[in-house]
Amino acid sequence: MTAGLTTPAYSRIIGLGEYRPARTLTNDDLCQTLDTSDAWIRQRTGIARRQLAALDESVISMASAASTKALADAGVDSARVGQVVLASCTMPQQIPGGAARVAESIGAIHAGAYDLNAACAGFGYALAAASDAVRVGSAEYVVVAASERLSDWIDWTDRSSAILFADGAGAVVVGPSATPGIGPLVSGSDGSASRLIELTEAGHLRLDGPAVFRWATTALGDIARRACDAAGVAPNQLAAFVPHQANLRIITAIARQLGATEAVIADDIVDAGNTSSASIPLALARLRREGKVAAGDRALTLAFGAGLTWAGTVVTVP
Ligand code: UT7
Repeated sequence: MTAGLTTPAYSRIIGLGEYRPARTLTNDDLCQTLDTSDAWIRQRTGIARRQLAALDESVISMASAASTKALADAGVDSARVGQVVLASCTMPQQIPGGAARVAESIGAIHAGAYDLNAACAGFGYALAAASDAVRVGSAEYVVVAASERLSDWIDWTDRSSAILFADGAGAVVVGPSATPGIGPLVSGSDGSASRLIELTEAGHLRLDGPAVFRWATTALGDIARRACDAAGVAPNQLAAFVPHQANLRIITAIARQLGATEAVIADDIVDAGNTSSASIPLALARLRREGKVAAGDRALTLAFGAGLTWAGTVVTVP
């Protein structure tokens, strides 16, 4: 335990930050080089446009920008951050990881740092690890950044995947709380389905979209309900449902199965595409920025992706 810390009863998210690259790629832009159409992409995925990083916008720089905003939102001095966790599956190199450089960049001079890769589910696992670290007193504040530059890993001639993915970063600050603010994590994995989303030897993302679609719309409603049960929150008490932004049809199917009748359903995918682990913090930050959720509201996050891996938890909006 860090000297001088008292162990808090609970943890919560106390700040949100988002970083969206400036360059926009519309569906019509994609039609210049791919045999596809704006109507097909909107109807099958919900996506209208997405953001792509410029050359100088890296996983680390985007994570740092989002984290700095989250710290400002939380009103926490970076010197008090005890850990920085970087969730990403698109770092250009394995060694070194990026978290220590994010910590350096944001001025978290006393922070431990580590990378976490659970693909699109990474934010869920990183948030749970941060929450546990705060609750047991390993750190007073933890910055969780989820940052992806998927555009580096896309085969731009493959219309089945090039239309989906994009770049961006979202971050949260987790800190101590007198009341529960981050519910237990309901998580699971299925390695027998690991080939459904993978990198080819050429370094391109390849997915069996229809198989992932079937799995997501069959299995995840139950996981979502279990995450609510674990937090002691009924689905109709949720103010928001913030799942990984993989496909708007997947999102609405799970929302229907869950019965979150009062919840606003996050649809950041329309403007942002699929930003993998970054999609949940980006979607949550947007809902709050647009006034669709407010401090104290409860939101179900539900992350899922390659592995297969999944992780759901109910959080209180800061
Ligand atoms: O974050 C986790 C990773 N994300 C995922 O794994 C995504 C999950 N899956 C999906 O979102 C959907 O499966 C996709 C959006 C990828 C595909 O939608 P779908 O409704 O499952 O379409 P499909 O792959 O079954 O293709 C239907 C038809 C096919 O033509 P035929 O065989 O019916 O003649 C495809 O060749 O649509 C064709 N198609 C396209 N047409 C126009 C596939 N991609 C495109 C395209 N534009 N971009």
